[in-house]
Amino acid sequence: MEIEEIKIDSIKDLIVASSSFFLPTRKDGFFDAYKFCQKFEAKKILKLFSTQINNQIIGYISLILDPENNFLDIGPMFILKNYRGKGYGQKQVEFVITWAKLNNYKTIETRTWGNNLGSRKIFNSLNFIQTKEIKNDRIDGDSSIFFELSL
Ligand SMILES: CC(C)(COP(=O)(O)OP(=O)(O)OC[C@H]1O[C@@H](n2cnc3c(N)ncnc32)[C@H](O)[C@@H]1OP(=O)(O)O)[C@@H](O)C(=O)NCCC(=O)NCCS
Repeated sequence: MEIEEIKIDSIKDLIVASSSFFLPTRKDGFFDAYKFCQKFEAKKILKLFSTQINNQIIGYISLILDPENNFLDIGPMFILKNYRGKGYGQKQVEFVITWAKLNNYKTIETRTWGNNLGSRKIFNSLNFIQTKEIKNDRIDGDSSIFFELSL
């Protein structure tokens, strides 16, 4: 397994395809992961890593950087369905933690939704603290859950 930095347009199809796995927020109705990444790429604060197995890209994780404040936010992260439950999702977040420390970041924030047991488990087991829950924040009535890790 390899995790390496990648340019947004090299994995456009994967990012576009991943959008349907992100629960829509109430505000947007539909979450477009590619537009999200493009917006921050245009501001030059997007960092994108892909996970590869035998030269096949099976997932990605996106970061929104705020280096002046030593802060980064984990944006969309994704593992292809057939590769889930094998530890790759957690490996991507572990990679980000190591990368953040090496690059002098002090805080990582992220959010997920209540029913996303996979990502909640990943953040909990990597010692992220749950800082906030906003109930009924999603179009289907689910909550938003906020996590923070101090490095
Ligand atoms: C969330 C996601 C990236 C997790 O990737 P993954 O490779 O399946 O996760 P891992 O295999 O590393 O799982 C980590 C832990 O969570 C558990 N887990 C994973 N998916 C789970 C699920 N759906 N329900 C319950 N537990 C789950 C695993 O059993 C594992 O626990 P363990 O360490 O005790 O064995 C992946 O499911 C995905 O791409 N989902 C769709 C997009 C998404 O939801 N992205 C995250 C938005 S915040």
